[in-house]
Amino acid sequence: MKKVHIKSFGCQMNVYDGQRMADILSHQGYEETATPEGADLILLNTCHIRDRAVQKVYTELGKMRDIKRAQGAEGQETKIVVAGCVAQAEGGEIQRRQPAVDLVVGPQAYHRLPELLAEAGKRRIVDTDLPVEDKFGFLPAPKPQAIRARGVSAFVTVQEGCDKFCAFCVVPYTRGAEFSRPVAQVMAEVERLAEAGVRDVTLIGQNVNAYHGEGPDGAVWGLARLMHRVAEVPGIARIRYTTSHPRDMDEDLIAAHRDLPQAMPFLHLPVQAGSDRILAAMNRKHTGDEYRRLIERIRAARPDIALSSDFIVGFPGETDADFEDTIRLVDEIGFASSYSFKYSPRPGTPAAELEAQIPRAVMDERLYRLQERIEHHRQAFNAATVGRTVDVLLERTGRHPGQLAGKSPYLQAVQIEGGTNRIGDIVPVVIERAGSNSLFGRLAEPGETGGEDMAA
Ligand code: 5AD
Ligand code: SF4
Repeated sequence: MKKVHIKSFGCQMNVYDGQRMADILSHQGYEETATPEGADLILLNTCHIRDRAVQKVYTELGKMRDIKRAQGAEGQETKIVVAGCVAQAEGGEIQRRQPAVDLVVGPQAYHRLPELLAEAGKRRIVDTDLPVEDKFGFLPAPKPQAIRARGVSAFVTVQEGCDKFCAFCVVPYTRGAEFSRPVAQVMAEVERLAEAGVRDVTLIGQNVNAYHGEGPDGAVWGLARLMHRVAEVPGIARIRYTTSHPRDMDEDLIAAHRDLPQAMPFLHLPVQAGSDRILAAMNRKHTGDEYRRLIERIRAARPDIALSSDFIVGFPGETDADFEDTIRLVDEIGFASSYSFKYSPRPGTPAAELEAQIPRAVMDERLYRLQERIEHHRQAFNAATVGRTVDVLLERTGRHPGQLAGKSPYLQAVQIEGGTNRIGDIVPVVIERAGSNSLFGRLAEPGETGGEDMAA
């Protein structure tokens, strides 16, 4: 067997794409290895969302070049592949900056990896075509042992690309226009995962709640309808989806959080900022109050839902007063968790052209303050779980012998004493303590209430 080392940066879709590339390569006689040393093929699956993510890729490529050289001196040929969004955005520029790279392949072209690799033996290759064909139709199904090795929680891409064009964001350029996979194709993948023991699926897409796939009846299905269908697959106990845009949270999807037991009470719904002026400049197409009202409707459907968001501080023109609107929104909603970033101007996006870019020191200070509030609310959410009984999906062995680690319905990491339970079981756990990153609990005694009563 030849060896491939795959390293994915950035979002969950890259994790998914990395797994699909591993599936393709497993049919080409490659097995995965955890370290680049000794690999015949090194594949960096890259992220272009912020400048720092891109710089990381070039640093990493420098290290991979050294490995390639050292292995070459011992007679082992090593190929370096750059995939993902930096490949799409920078193309051949990558090979100019790092000549050790053999192949650059974009996120919509990686189904052609076998041909491209054969060709890359002879010359340097760049393939960043945006879809002329649907790559998904060409991807081999993962082997059952590969699914099992990846665990009981899995990602399934159902939608890709984005038509929203937020003023700061490269995604519409790197991933292309919105595209939804047909329902039958998604279902075949989910069924295969479930047969190999997957219990928890996260449906992913850059704008997943805009899903509009072709149903088996020829009609267009929305995300809620797809989730109801996924919930019918034997073994699938938990369904999540990410990432969503506030404008695409329709009535059916909100109702699914009330009506569908498999729909987990967790929602990542980025708002980005709290000031209407900044939201308009970002081209988000919603105001702060529209977001608040939406959250009220979602909480009316599922009162215990854990909410999460992304925030950008220091968007061009953001004043102190604008930033205070963000803090106010964070304190009003009380997110269970959130990601926050300093604005990073991205080539080709409208916001990068704006004057009134914010000085770094101001951004640093705002990020620090925002993260302090986010952390406060995260800890408050976790502390509120202590004393309750929640259903935990056991995902792996824990830190200490006899411990098992899993996830609560709210996507919190939970550590418990394992008892006789197995990975893949869903067990009621009394939460006893909240640590800084995990909750700690014990198995509930028979008769102690299960997780469902948290909704009351
Ligand atoms: N600068 C900083 N953060 C950004 N994001 C997207 N583009 C940028 C940028 N140019 C953040 C947004 C998005 C998350 C995935 O990354 O918050 O929701
Ligand atoms: Fe980028 Fe998300 Fe806005 Fe689409 S909705 S442009 S992916 S931030």
